[in-house]
Order: sequence, then C-alpha cells, then structure tokens
Amino acid sequence: MREISVLCYDAEYRKYCSELLTIFYLVTNIEFVEASTEFADKDFLHVTKGTDLVEMRYTKDGQTHIFLFKDKDIEKDRIKTIKKIIFQFLNSIQQLDLPWGFLSGVRPVKMAVNLFLKGCTRQEAYRVFVNDYLVSPKKADLLLDLAQMDLQLTGKSRVISDSVSLYISIPFCPNRCTYCSFTSYPFDKNKDLIPVYIDCLIKELAHIQRSIQEKNQTVQSVYIGGGTPGVLPLSLLDKLLSAVDHLCTDQTREVTFEAGRPEVFDDDKQKCVKNHYVTRICINPQSMDDEILRNIGRRHTVKDIVQCFDNAVKNGFDNINTDMIVGLPGETPDQFKKNLGLLLDLGQQSVTVHTLAMKKKAVLMQNHNAQDIVNNKDIENSK
Ligand SMILES: C[S@@+](CC[C@H](N)C(=O)[O-])C[C@H]1O[C@@H](n2cnc3c(N)ncnc32)[C@H](O)[C@@H]1O
Ligand code: SF4
Repeated sequence: MREISVLCYDAEYRKYCSELLTIFYLVTNIEFVEASTEFADKDFLHVTKGTDLVEMRYTKDGQTHIFLFKDKDIEKDRIKTIKKIIFQFLNSIQQLDLPWGFLSGVRPVKMAVNLFLKGCTRQEAYRVFVNDYLVSPKKADLLLDLAQMDLQLTGKSRVISDSVSLYISIPFCPNRCTYCSFTSYPFDKNKDLIPVYIDCLIKELAHIQRSIQEKNQTVQSVYIGGGTPGVLPLSLLDKLLSAVDHLCTDQTREVTFEAGRPEVFDDDKQKCVKNHYVTRICINPQSMDDEILRNIGRRHTVKDIVQCFDNAVKNGFDNINTDMIVGLPGETPDQFKKNLGLLLDLGQQSVTVHTLAMKKKAVLMQNHNAQDIVNNKDIENSK
C-alpha cells in the first residue's frame, strides 16, 4: 500500500487534504511534513496557498501533476466547493470508480432527511448529491428512497413540545471493537472513576427533573446507551435505574436499556433491570459468525448471544432489540443473509441494521483504507 507525504502550511487546506486523502490512502500512510521531501517510493502532495491562487503539485508513481485554481472568490458553499475541486484533481490521477463521491464522515441518509426537512424536493436533493458531492445516480436514488422511508416511519412532522426525550451515556466498554469510534473508555482501567461518574449523572438527572417540572413537561422516552451500560456493576446499575425511575410517569412511553455486549449482561443484572422502569432492552450481536466476532474484537461468541437472549426472555423481557452491522470485513452478502437468518431465529421484537461506517478514529481504519474495506480486500484480524 503506497504512502504519501503532504506539505501544506495552510490550516484550512491541511484539513481538506487530511479528509480527502483517506479515500485513497490508509490513514496511517498519510504523513504531513514540514519541508519538501520527495522519495521515489512515496507519493507527494504539495499545496501552496498564495494570495490569489492555490497550487497543487501531486507526485504519484514518479510523475508530477500540477493544478492551479483561484479560491479567493469562492464564498457560496466554500468548503464543499473547494473539497470538490481537490477531490476531482486527485481522482483525475487516481482514476477510481467511487460511487459515494467524496462523502465521508457523514451519514448520507441523515443529510438527505435534513434536505427534505428544509423543504427540498426529491429532484433538488438528488442534484445536491450527484452534482455537488459526485455521488453516483444509483446511490443517490437509494439514499433518497431511504430518507423518504425514514421520514414516513419516524413521522418527523409530529412535534411533541410538552415532552422531552433523554439520552444517558455510559461511556465504558469491556474493550474497543475495531470498527467503533464512539466515546468509550476501557472498563477495567476506569473502575475507580465509574462510581463517581454515576453519582454525577444522578445529580444531573435531578437538575433535569427540576427543569422539566418547571416547564410542565414530561419525559416521553429515555435511552440508556453508550458505550456498554450492561458493563456497570450490579449496585451501580441499581442506583442509576432507581434515579431514572423517578423521572418516569404514566406519560413515559419507552425506557430503553442498551445492555450491549451479551457476555456482560448476566442473570443478576437482567433481574435488576427487570425490577425497574425499563420497557425495552438491546442485546447486540453485530454478527452471528464467531470468526467475524473475533476479528472485530468482540469478546463474545454466538453461543453467548443465544444464551443471553434466551435468559432475557425467561426473565420476562418482551421488547428486545438486536443490533447487526452489514458490511463487516470478511463478510460476503451471502454470509450476511445467512447470519441475518440466524439472528431472526432468536425471535426478537426489532432488529437495527447499521451499515458499517468507516470512522477515521476506528482501529479498522488505521489498518485499512476505505476502498479496501468496501472491496473486502486483504482484511485480516486487526484487533
Ligand atoms: C454506540 S454502540 C453501543 C452498543 C454496545 N456497546 C454494543 O456494542 O453492543 C451502538 C451501535 O452502533 C453500531 N456501530 C458502532 N460503530 C459502528 C460503525 N463504525 N459502523 C456501523 N455501526 C456501528 C453497533 O451496531 C452498535 O451496536
Ligand atoms: S461497539 Fe459497543 S462495545 Fe464495541 S467499542 Fe463501540 S460502544 Fe463499545
């Protein structure tokens, strides 16, 4: 896999380059340098921002390509326009077929939903993706279909202003999964901090309760997510859930406890959760294949998932969600279909299917570039 050195003194352009180059190079193969250092076995990008013109010199496989453009007058959609110019220049040399254009670090369906909510027609939103972000027509149609479904299912037009929904984060996990970039700290190294964190959370919940009572509001829903809330020791779990109970009234429609990893959600914790105002739990397999689970850094097996799930049913949970990720390294479409079938055999009430998002900070992205992952190329255990 080729490496690249980048020389660019301008902070704005350094940011654009660091974002766009991850489309073509491994994150760890991109090096920002302070002086011109051209090596035969390394590509080189030199960006110079003058008062009038921006010059880009891109040396790839020993050949230098030069491109100049004027950025002074770009005011409308400045970031998007400049990134498009840089991307087009880089890809005129790389010549890759990139159906998602230069969209990165965003959820495209969320962008489409927001465009619809701002009042864009489907045609206008389509033009934004195809013309502005260089997304292929097929992918643009796909994500606009999904955004329309999303709006229909969530009924976004119904605004309930006399109620609030709360998200409570437990940012601790047994260990870090290779694809994940959510805020999360290792449980073992933070054992002393966790009781303090829970006490602070409980204080904050008390403030929130006062504030919503003053405004005559009620709590419509609560989501306890993370991280891995199921990792909390029994006594802290009980303490936190008791504080949540105080917030709930007969107007509260849903309280979700995202247990997360099955290996941490043992029988005692399940019974404790069941004793509180929790209406829905999440037990997340991500995949139903032991090898894939190992490769993504999960410490549980398929057997653990089934046991945890069956036990939850025995403990009386009747609204269980299971998260699955589609596009995990090493999983073909046929394997995914098979794994989805195994997952549905559990008999859960809902399944959330996440499409793998390639996050810059995830371990997976530090070992592979986005294109390799899309092509399922040479992905080995990257724990
Ligand atoms: C914030 S995580 C918390 C879940 C819990 N810690 C667990 O792993 O079971 C919520 C969900 O996000 C999904 N997720 C995390 N990183 C992702 C990524 N890079 N791409 C797609 N889905 C991801 C996983 O399906 C995960 O279950
Ligand atoms: S996927 Fe869940 S368990 Fe894995 S690191 Fe992210 S938050 Fe933690």
